Amino acid sequence: MSGGGPGAGGATGPEEFRRVLRYLRPYIPRMVAAGFCMLGVAAFTGVFALLIKNVLDDVFIRGDRFMLTLIPGVILATFFLKGLFYYGQQYLMGFIGQGVIRDLRGEVYDHLQEMDLRFYQTHPTGNLVSRTLNDVNLLKETIDTSFTSLLSDSITLVTLLGVVVYRDWKLALIAFGVAPLALWPIRLFGQRMKQISRRSQETIADLTDFLTESLAGHRVIQAFTAEARARERFAAHNQLYFRKLMKKTQARAFTSPTVEMIVAVGAVAAVYYGGSRVIAGELTPGTFFSFLTALIMSYQPIRKLGNLHVGIQEGLAAAARIFQLLDEPPGICDRAGATELAPFAREVRFESVSFRYEEEWILRDVALTARAGETVAFVGPSGGGKTTLVHLLPRFYEVEEGAITLDGVDIRTLTLHSLRGQIALVGQDTFLFNTTVRDNIAYGRPAATEAEIVAAAQAANAHTFVSALPNGYDTVVGEQGVRLSGGQKQRLSIARAILKDAPILILDEATSALDTESEALVQEALTHLMVGRTTFVIAHRLSTIQQADRIYVVDGGRIVEAGSHAELLARAGLYRRLYEG
Ligand SMILES: Nc1ncnc2c1ncn2[C@@H]1O[C@H](COP(=O)(O)OP(=O)(O)O)[C@@H](O)[C@H]1O
Ligand SMILES: [Mg+2]
Repeated sequence: MSGGGPGAGGATGPEEFRRVLRYLRPYIPRMVAAGFCMLGVAAFTGVFALLIKNVLDDVFIRGDRFMLTLIPGVILATFFLKGLFYYGQQYLMGFIGQGVIRDLRGEVYDHLQEMDLRFYQTHPTGNLVSRTLNDVNLLKETIDTSFTSLLSDSITLVTLLGVVVYRDWKLALIAFGVAPLALWPIRLFGQRMKQISRRSQETIADLTDFLTESLAGHRVIQAFTAEARARERFAAHNQLYFRKLMKKTQARAFTSPTVEMIVAVGAVAAVYYGGSRVIAGELTPGTFFSFLTALIMSYQPIRKLGNLHVGIQEGLAAAARIFQLLDEPPGICDRAGATELAPFAREVRFESVSFRYEEEWILRDVALTARAGETVAFVGPSGGGKTTLVHLLPRFYEVEEGAITLDGVDIRTLTLHSLRGQIALVGQDTFLFNTTVRDNIAYGRPAATEAEIVAAAQAANAHTFVSALPNGYDTVVGEQGVRLSGGQKQRLSIARAILKDAPILILDEATSALDTESEALVQEALTHLMVGRTTFVIAHRLSTIQQADRIYVVDGGRIVEAGSHAELLARAGLYRRLYEG
């Protein structure tokens, strides 16, 4: 379901890391500025540690009154300047992190727009939503928290180390001699984090999936009083995600103390050795305390750097899932050298077309011709392959054997944009966007004038009911058009097709879900729409297609009979049985 996929979370870290870095390229000037701010933060942190020596040796030990008035001012100024640089650093790094994520989200969305029907049938909506939002957000955390930390904390640490070494290099050696030991837990927790993070992202994808599905299907849940079951299943997903997150929290919470403990061993050794040298009079208390301050202050960057690896691994697991999606090539796209379809003029031909979704052949050897202006109809038992057949024309799926030609040109050599631009499709289930009636009608031609929109609505028998709506054409129809009846939705989708004004029209059981009265209205609207167009019509009520120029009877993926209504009746085959039954 959630498809972590092979490779995700494997040994692909450095590659993903490099790929994430590429997204930072446009932000280099800002990174340079941020780097400058980080240097400022580090410098003033170091200055503070250095000042401790003056506080002790000059003020406390020598009792220098002038220093007593000077030093507090200097300390305040130090913190003020450090604060300014800190603000700049946080702002800039936040900008970069959010910016990269905005770019990446945009890229994911653009990529999704290129994907074909097959892709959407195998990738649940919630999973895609989760990758576009959750995974991308997790990566943002990595970029702005971890990268900031990587740069700023290492600079600060280096500065503080400088102070430590400057004060007493022998003490420094003792204090940091144990540091390499700290690398071991850091690596260990990092690897673990990558695994946990991948699993938790899979879990949130499943959770999002279940959520989107049950929100969309709320009516079915209520009609079948399945609320308790839905609640239970959601609770299970929810709990699972909670547990994965707690594992993450655990791994995070473990790293800092482990690293700190190791560092503390070194510090304690330095305190013991340093203390004994102060007692022996070889070291001033000021030097020692300045050393100790720098040492203690270097704890925080060390701790953060220790967590960093873990944070980065977490982000890289999310990055792997995003890149996996981005790398999935669109199944159907323009081929090299694809040409624009000239305005359709002569004929559509299916030349022994065969097609299958998976193993089993769904269409076998289908041959047919529709000349410009003709209406051809498809009838036959449900599941015979009629919808599949007409879906091949706009290349929702690609023909596997044989070819479909438009005016003699194989549709696979055309650009998708020009091909689909000449085809209007009214399907069985209409989809309306949660916007105004006007915008829904003008969806295929946003530049249409008010007069054109009204004319389309009139031709679709929709104008009367639209005018009666509270806000007329400005009425918002609700998600998927919930505020309208089935027949009203259908008529709006016909108006949309009329306004598109394409030469080729596909009507797939456009009236099957309607009551008799609205069917009559919709049927009349369709008759307007078909005038002067080449029409492919699938009808389950045979009364509606008797005027068609040719009727194809489709059964088991083959065309078993073809002819006019009268010819087919005379033949006494499947058509006649369907007509009479
Ligand atoms: N997306 C799909 N993936 C796999 N099989 C499909 C898909 N869509 C339809 N089918 C199968 O293809 C066959 C033909 O379906 P369809 O073209 O919808 O028939 P009709 O429109 O004549 O009722 C059916 O057996 C159906 O189960
Ligand atoms: Mg169908």
